[in-house]
Amino acid sequence: MKSKPRAAVSRSGRFTSGPADEVAAFTESISFDWRLWEHDIMGSMAHAAMLRKIGILTPDEARDILKGLEDIGSEIESGCFHWKPELEDVHMNIEAELTARVPAGAKLHTARSRNDQVALDIRLWLRDEIVELTGELTQLQRALVALGDRYALVVIPGYTHLQRAQPVFFAHHLLAYVEMVERDLARFRDCFERVNVCPLGSGALAGSTLPLDREFVARFLHFTDVDGKPRITQNSMDAVSDRDFIVEFCAHAALLAVHLSRLSEDIVLWATTEFDFIRIADSFTTGSSLMPQKKNPDVAELTRGKSARVIGNLTSVLTLLKGLPMTYNRDLQEDKERLFDTSDTVRRCVRLTTGMLGQITVNEKACADASSDPSLLATDLADYLVRQGVPFRQAHHAIGGLVAHAEASRKSLAQLTLDEFLKFDPHFQREALQIFDLNGAMSRRVVTGSPGVKQVRKQLARWKRALGKSAP
Ligand code: ARG
Repeated sequence: MKSKPRAAVSRSGRFTSGPADEVAAFTESISFDWRLWEHDIMGSMAHAAMLRKIGILTPDEARDILKGLEDIGSEIESGCFHWKPELEDVHMNIEAELTARVPAGAKLHTARSRNDQVALDIRLWLRDEIVELTGELTQLQRALVALGDRYALVVIPGYTHLQRAQPVFFAHHLLAYVEMVERDLARFRDCFERVNVCPLGSGALAGSTLPLDREFVARFLHFTDVDGKPRITQNSMDAVSDRDFIVEFCAHAALLAVHLSRLSEDIVLWATTEFDFIRIADSFTTGSSLMPQKKNPDVAELTRGKSARVIGNLTSVLTLLKGLPMTYNRDLQEDKERLFDTSDTVRRCVRLTTGMLGQITVNEKACADASSDPSLLATDLADYLVRQGVPFRQAHHAIGGLVAHAEASRKSLAQLTLDEFLKFDPHFQREALQIFDLNGAMSRRVVTGSPGVKQVRKQLARWKRALGKSAP
């Protein structure tokens, strides 16, 4: 293996040669951590401003550094910055380039290590990601509510064990996901609180002997609480090795991915010829290379599939951390690809699911046919007997007998006569035959949280109010 000369900004003096090529390729992270550039520059600007405040940089030096960082930022943004893999990572690339342009750049790394720098960069990056993701999740909720609202009168069978169980409004089914996403949102907001703490000033692991103003840096970078008070880490060793906030984010993302996967599964089922409850517009489906008639719900399938890698990322990060001695270890470099992939994947899934929901039409006839199955109201019939004073277990047994009788006589429950009813329980009266009226059934469900007409309307109205008007 050949070795390369060492760059100006590296650990220099201690080494007589650079790492061998294959070692450099193995240890580099620039190929993926370059995307932290904006946050790295922001962090460096805060650090430079602080070094000026405490007198380590002169005002001129600080100004030159800020200007140099700004220029580098513009070049990276416009795509003309030359990244050097031999400089290992985003931090060294930017610092080396700055130092080549601005002599004072050599002072920028005072009282700073890449260990607290990378911890800072990830927190800054993740803060922005969480803000974007929560906005996208709200859009997803709006799309679910809008679809439910568009078909507010449509009833479908609700299922347990994937067997028809009881009728529910289509909107009620969708609102279940709005509730799940609301809890996801709360978890991400809570996670934000622990991401939003500034680790800079922790050095490599043991802080600094220089009189750093950590509160200044925290304020500069908006690491503040609701009262505007700076939030800084309280233990340097914890600060450079803590990745709890990444685990939390990946865990919340995994649960979100599972929610999206379940919704996708419902959509895949509903779009089958067997269910035929919905149509997904062509723009959100794909064809088969062999079977000309096929229209596949690939967006939903891939969203379901991608939950696997999000769950895998959580497992990877946990496994990465579990055996690490204090404090920073190079293993931690492996956190970023898992984190980036997690955020990219869930954000993409959320956006595409939102788009797909806007492109779904409901086959109201198929839904009406499926929900007109009178056996969906067998429980209502048992409730009828309960109202007549029959103990529920006895009522359940009687209706079970009635269902078996209907099956044996190849009739639906609604086709049975009062005389047949009375063979199974003497408390039936003529009005019992009205139980199978679906509209009546849906207005009987008045308990909070149940899929009754009034309840679902109330829930739709509540969510529309909470989410604002701008449906996608
Ligand atoms: N690229 C490294 C990472 O992602 C930055 C920190 C390197 N620190 C070190 N002492 N080698 O973790």
